[in-house]
Amino acid sequence: ESKPRIPVLWLHGLECTCCSESFIRSAHPLAKDVVLSMLSLDYDDTLMAAAGHQAEAIVDEVVEQYKGNYILAVEGNPPLNEDGMFCIIGGKPFVDQLKHAASNAKAIICWGSCASWGCVQAARPNPTRATPVHKVPGLPDKPIIKVPGCPPIAEVMTAVITYILTFEKLPELDRQGRPKMFYSQRIHDKCYRRPHFDAGQFVESFDDEGARKGYCLYKVGCKGPTTYNACSTVGWNGGLSFPIQAGHPCIGCSEDGFWDKGDFYSRL
Ligand code: SF4
Ligand code: SF4
Ligand code: F3S
Repeated sequence: ESKPRIPVLWLHGLECTCCSESFIRSAHPLAKDVVLSMLSLDYDDTLMAAAGHQAEAIVDEVVEQYKGNYILAVEGNPPLNEDGMFCIIGGKPFVDQLKHAASNAKAIICWGSCASWGCVQAARPNPTRATPVHKVPGLPDKPIIKVPGCPPIAEVMTAVITYILTFEKLPELDRQGRPKMFYSQRIHDKCYRRPHFDAGQFVESFDDEGARKGYCLYKVGCKGPTTYNACSTVGWNGGLSFPIQAGHPCIGCSEDGFWDKGDFYSRL
């Protein structure tokens, strides 16, 4: 309680804002406790009350006053074509704001598949050249933590922040830069429908007898066997459910390139 709250700049590029929608629904810890008690969310252009030039000046202040001691969180990504003109924040290309905010950051957290991989706005032929954060040319060299998912699980987002603030170090990452504690297992490894997969009991088409019996969704396209995420362990909505439990195959929303891999509802 006596520790100073670490400043966080939360930027928004080309995105849909559902990573924020997910974050504010965290139950353990509550998002309000993270934002009001654990960190100092100094800039977030979708959550903050301030607007205009004074709000934009906060980014400059934090970058100068807290050198090496603030976290940069990024939702969405910068489109690089036409000198970044497809995403303008405060009258300037988002890519410029991103590079400036990254210049003195302790680390960069990439929220969601947009910031981590590119996501739907980077879908072929990617007319705006939407580019994931780690591939932005000229980005200051900082540790990058990817928290992919479209969106990521709320409790995974708040847990990553809580870990950094509590232990004052970054979580252990896998080769792709994802926290191992949440991304080291495939959905399929812990899926409660796995016994049906092992027994060869499959849904052949939606709403068939197998679907009503809760059989495995592999034949209707489930990407759980190749998707690293915590949905089948942590769950969504406070652990209440997750896509497969609701009868829908996993579309692999936390995997690089999931948006361009073809039909979500058949085997690739
Ligand atoms: Fe939206 Fe998905 Fe991008 Fe998050 S990762 S901002 S949920 S499109
Ligand atoms: Fe694996 Fe998907 Fe079947 Fe679950 S529903 S067992 S994740 S293929
Ligand atoms: Fe995404 Fe698959 Fe989880 S679609 S939300 S990774 S079950």
